Amino acid sequence: MTKISGHTQIVGVIGDPVQHSRSPQMHNAAILERKLDCVYVPFHVRSGELREAIEGFKALNVLGVNVTIPHKQAVMPILDDVSHEATLIGAANTLIFCDGRVSGDNTDAQGFLRGMTEEGIDIPVGGSAVVLGAGGAARAVVVALALSKLSLITIANRTRWKATQLERELASISDTEISVADLSSSQFNLAIRSADLLVNTTSVGMQASDQLLIDPNSLNSKTIVYEIVYTPPETPLLQVAREKGCRTIGGIGMLVHQGAIAFEKWIGIVPNVQTMRIALEQALYQKKM
Ligand code: ATR
Repeated sequence: MTKISGHTQIVGVIGDPVQHSRSPQMHNAAILERKLDCVYVPFHVRSGELREAIEGFKALNVLGVNVTIPHKQAVMPILDDVSHEATLIGAANTLIFCDGRVSGDNTDAQGFLRGMTEEGIDIPVGGSAVVLGAGGAARAVVVALALSKLSLITIANRTRWKATQLERELASISDTEISVADLSSSQFNLAIRSADLLVNTTSVGMQASDQLLIDPNSLNSKTIVYEIVYTPPETPLLQVAREKGCRTIGGIGMLVHQGAIAFEKWIGIVPNVQTMRIALEQALYQKKM
């Protein structure tokens, strides 16, 4: 635990609820490892008090905060500056306070890409991807992939209109073609069969009883399968993909990297991502160290 002094700087996370967040363990481990006079604190901020909280952080010289449910989108109009990626994603997960101003950024897209590259897996530039889901996480993933110059992204979601809306909003951010397919349709199965990358951004897989959203027979061993769900560490989709011989990526890497990028933006020091990962795994999976 950081020894609090008159110089201790504050970073943290705002959310409602926020008690479940494992970010404090992850960030404080990195702060301790770098011997910084800083502490990462969870702040329970209700929706009606978001603006006051932001003003309070400015007044208290807080360095920065992460933003989680339900404030990621709601915080946008309150910000003085918004990064390009946060604008495209329509949500901020990282706020930086400086000289009485607050800037919003979104580190999910970069965190997603780093989660892939740290596994030694190249981003399939010029290739195709299938994204399952059309919520907030899907938006960050589609932005990341479209900015990485894939040729085609197919979005498939239980509720089709949300996928269509995502397609419409993100179609012009790059030359990447974005299309929509219904889950289980022949177009969907075809897209899976030829995909370089399959990403699950839905919550399906968190429960052992969850039915797979894809037909395992459509899965090609050359397809990289990236799961955003991180509890359990191996979801049924990852298990099927592993058995098929696919390269697989679990969701913990994205979680660690979005945090590491935020840490660097606040503190100006690159944290040890391995330390963050170990602390996060310990907190999430109750591992004895
Ligand atoms: P997040 O911000 O984590 O992306 P979200 O915005 O609530 O969370 O999005 C959750 C995604 O998981 C949505 O795409 C949702 O599909 P709907 O748009 O149809 O709700 C998807 N999802 C959740 N439960 C699902 C299920 N049982 N089967 C299929 N998709 C599911």
